[in-house]
Amino acid sequence: PLSAKIDQTGQMVIGGCLVTDLVKQFGSPLYIVDELTLRTACQQYRLSFQKFYPGPSQILYASKAWSCMAISALVANEGLGLDVVSGGELYTALQAGVDPETIYFHGNNKSVPELEMALSCGCTIIADNWLELEQLTELLDTIDALPNPPRVMLRITPGIECHTHEYIRTGHLDSKFGFDPNQIDQALSFAQKNPQITWVGFHAHIGSQIFELQPHQDLTSVIVEWLAKAQALGLSMNELNIGGGLGIRYVESDDPPSIAQWSEIVCNGISQACQTANIPLPKLLCEPGRSLVGTSCITAYTVGAKKNIPDIRTYLSVDGGMSDNPRPITYQSVYSAAIANHMDSSATEIVTVAGKHCESGDVLLKDIPLPPSQPGDILVVMGTGAYNYSMASNYNRISRPAAVLVQNGDANLILKRETYQDLIRQDCLPRHLEP
Ligand code: LLP
Repeated sequence: PLSAKIDQTGQMVIGGCLVTDLVKQFGSPLYIVDELTLRTACQQYRLSFQKFYPGPSQILYASKAWSCMAISALVANEGLGLDVVSGGELYTALQAGVDPETIYFHGNNKSVPELEMALSCGCTIIADNWLELEQLTELLDTIDALPNPPRVMLRITPGIECHTHEYIRTGHLDSKFGFDPNQIDQALSFAQKNPQITWVGFHAHIGSQIFELQPHQDLTSVIVEWLAKAQALGLSMNELNIGGGLGIRYVESDDPPSIAQWSEIVCNGISQACQTANIPLPKLLCEPGRSLVGTSCITAYTVGAKKNIPDIRTYLSVDGGMSDNPRPITYQSVYSAAIANHMDSSATEIVTVAGKHCESGDVLLKDIPLPPSQPGDILVVMGTGAYNYSMASNYNRISRPAAVLVQNGDANLILKRETYQDLIRQDCLPRHLEP
């Protein structure tokens, strides 16, 4: 995080707060979000688009990366809109006070109640498939009074390959998301036949944690071709949403492009493609998640048992694991870590940081050098803002951690730690099983 520092006693400070103090106050494990890093990333996207794109633009935050009220409100406060993918994410955004006019509702299998919710709040719907288009038009026949015609964007599979983990690639043709590009003509004729809907434009997303710029550049020409085609048919579409996907640095050897570099490539790509196609510049949207929130957060854990297996490995166990960060076990993702109260130590030992779950694969970091640590020391894992809390579970009935937002020495709770009562909140005991 941008505000991270080491004080004279070798302790890690973030947002002006000692990490060890935060753990004393809010407990362990703890997600610690640096407000400065998150706001700076929002500003970098907004300013880069203003600088490199001569037309109108809007940055959306892909809230799947971390959906909660405080983060939604913070990014909205920075002038960003929101991408939501479920009734739950939409509800969270609306409760946080996000303007529905800046919300875009995704999903490859939205339920009818979700569509109704989207229609009634007036957000933009990103239509993914034929069933959804049918359901939308049927709903419109049954609802009497909507303040405005619904805004619908078409999601098309771009057919672009990129080099990232197989599970998080979305743009290649064999994908469950979006209309097949061969069906664009059909989709556009559906649009022409349904003028009760405001057809706003196209969406495409190629994948996540991408370091190459080329696939994004390729996408810009493909998506502009679709828009030119729609406009040639007389449809007044004028928005393009190029998705998210920019990767971040998790370990020293990662070398992703900066937000500015990525923005320059996509903004220039769209401008040039529009010039070639001879169409006016559309409103350009993108919806990054990871690169907005990823590096703003660290997770603090308390070091517990240590097990040394001579000539094999040393396991250092911490008080969280795959329930608060399922990415290593799911995608073999790598992270970096430090001991927050020994930042100045030059001695190191090679350890494997294991979680506390009943599963051998519950390993957060494998064979990494760390300063020698004792039970009670505070171990921090860096870059845990994206897809950690949002993918967290209660496996082994372990409560989800609290989260705090830190800035200038101030720490504000944004998510309360779950209690045992929270864990059984939805449990029901049938009468005949009551004690
Ligand atoms: N837009 C769409 C339509 C998406 O599907 C995604 C991510 C994004 C935007 C945001 O992508 P980002 O900028 O964060 O790369 N759980 C996985 C990542 C799944 C990404 C899903 N879609 C992980 O932990 O790596």
